[in-house]
Amino acid sequence: MAERQEPERNNEPMPRRAWDAPLVGRAAELATLDEAMRAAADGTAAVVLIAGEAGIGKSRLTAEAANRARADGWQVLSGGCLDLAEGSVPYLPLMDALHDLPIDTLSPLLTRWLSGVAEEPSPQHSEDAARGRVYAAYLEVLRASSPNSPLALVVEDVHWADRGTRDLLSYLVRALTAPTARARVLIILTYRSDDFPRGSPIRRWLGELARRPSVSRVDVAPLGRAEVGQQLNALEPSTRTRRRRSFFTPRATRSMWRNWRRSGPLGSQGCRRSYATLQRSE
Ligand SMILES: Nc1ncnc2c1ncn2[C@@H]1O[C@H](COP(=O)(O)OP(=O)(O)O)[C@@H](O)[C@H]1O
Ligand SMILES: [Mg+2]
Repeated sequence: MAERQEPERNNEPMPRRAWDAPLVGRAAELATLDEAMRAAADGTAAVVLIAGEAGIGKSRLTAEAANRARADGWQVLSGGCLDLAEGSVPYLPLMDALHDLPIDTLSPLLTRWLSGVAEEPSPQHSEDAARGRVYAAYLEVLRASSPNSPLALVVEDVHWADRGTRDLLSYLVRALTAPTARARVLIILTYRSDDFPRGSPIRRWLGELARRPSVSRVDVAPLGRAEVGQQLNALEPSTRTRRRRSFFTPRATRSMWRNWRRSGPLGSQGCRRSYATLQRSE
C-alpha cells in the first residue's frame, strides 16, 4: 500500500465557478475548436458538437474557447437549455443568446419575439410563415455581425433542447454551412452523451447535425493521471496523485477536494477516505 499524504490546507479562497479554476489538459479538444475558429474567421462557418458525461468538463472547455474568441475580438452569444420540471419554454436558450447583443441593434420583429409577442397569423401570414420570418431574422443577426468581427453562438446542454430550439438551430446550421454560404460564424453546442434513451428525437437530431459538412464533434473524456494531478495541484499545491488513469470526472475530483478542504484532515471519515482514493496507487 503506498503511503498517503494529507496535504496542508491552504487559506486561499476556493475557486467556485467552472471558469475560475485553471484549465488542465484538453489540448486536442482545443486544437479542434481552434481549427473551427480559424475556418469561421476566414468565412467558412463551422459547428462544433461537444459531447461527454455530466461533470466531465464540457462547460469548462467551452468557456475556454469562448474566452479565447473574445480575446481575439469575436462577439460571443450564449445560452443554455434547462431541464424543466414541466413543459418547455420554446427557444429559451436562443432568446437568451440574443440578449448578449445591444437590444437596439435587433430588428423590431426580433424585439417583439423576445418580448413574447408572437406575430398574429393573418390571411397573408400563416403561423408557419411567421415562424419562418423569425428564423430568417435570426440568421440575419448572425450573418450581419460577422463582417466586422466573427461571431460565436454557444448553446449549452442541448440534450434538453425544446423542439423549437432544435428546429431553429437546424435551420441556422443548414443555412450557414450551405456550400455557397459565406459567414464568419461558429456554433458550439454541448450535450450529455450518456443520457439518451434509444430512439430519442434529440439523439436523431444530433446524428443528423453531425453528418453535415463543417460539423465536427469533440468527445470529452476523463482526464489522464498526470492531468488529475495537475487539477488537484492547482486546487491544493501540495497534493500528489498516483492513479494511472482517472475514472473520476473533473467535477468528482473537484468536489472531493472541496469536501476535504471544508472538513480538513480531522474531518469526516468518508470525506477523508474518498479524497485518499485519489492519492492511492493502483
Ligand atoms: N480541464 C479541466 N481543468 C480544470 N478543471 C476542470 C476541467 N474540466 C472540468 N473542470 C472542473 O470540473 C467541474 C465540472 O466541469 P463542467 O465543465 O461544469 O462539466 P460539464 O459541463 O461537462 O458538466 C467544474 O468545476 C470545472 O471547473
Ligand atoms: Mg455543463
